[in-house]
Amino acid sequence: MKYSGYALTVRSLRCLVTAGPTREPIDPVRFLSNRSSGRMGYALATAALRAGAQVTLVSGPVKIPPPGRAHLVRVETAAEMRRATLHAARQVDLVIMAAAVADSRPATVAKRKIKKQTERLILHLVKTPDILAELGRRKPRRQVLVGFAAETHELLANARKKLERKNLDFIVANPVGRPDSGFESPFNRVTLLARGGATLAFPRMRKEILARRLLRIFLDACAR
Ligand code: PMT
Repeated sequence: MKYSGYALTVRSLRCLVTAGPTREPIDPVRFLSNRSSGRMGYALATAALRAGAQVTLVSGPVKIPPPGRAHLVRVETAAEMRRATLHAARQVDLVIMAAAVADSRPATVAKRKIKKQTERLILHLVKTPDILAELGRRKPRRQVLVGFAAETHELLANARKKLERKNLDFIVANPVGRPDSGFESPFNRVTLLARGGATLAFPRMRKEILARRLLRIFLDACAR
């Protein structure tokens, strides 16, 4: 089989994708989490594998099967996702942070199941580490770093702020809170923002198709 230069480049390309939610424990029985199903991240990992890249997939707890040839690292908490992601990110050409990482966690984890003694249970929450910002600070010169922005309002303004503040090459602006796309849905509709100002809107489509289109853009950026 004759390989074009591009195919050989992609063949040696290493990609890290994060996917799914994190779970932040409250007590041995309960946790804080979100609605991420992992579909978007798993579709991106599958598209990268199809393009010939080597893929590490750091995944929170999801119900969908992982793409067979990916190196899968299962995590639960934001702290575990941070450790696994920072470790894997040192060796890759492309990082895609599609995971729905919890922004905060209970300040303390009760050792025993919290009994319902009062009408109201108050949880003190503390911020989790911003993994994407840390990746942006450590980014090797040639690494392409892609974030997501899940927003319910002021989508592009909020996404652009993250793109600039976190030293990203791309950010996928993802409107969420709609019944027909985003969290858990087989479909998504996004706008891709690039460093330097370019934007590209993708109408609602299946996540597998969207992932292939996004990957083509990211792989081109890696090849530059
Ligand atoms: O999994 P699905 O059901 O298919 O749903 C897909 C999705 C909606 C989860 C996905 O398309 C998506 O939008 N993922 C990002 C969700 C998210 O956490 O967005 P955010 O705006 O809260 O975070 C911004 C970026 O920072 C994300 O790249 C996130 O991975 C990252 N982050 C967030 C918090 C944190 N402590 N560390 C981070 O690195």
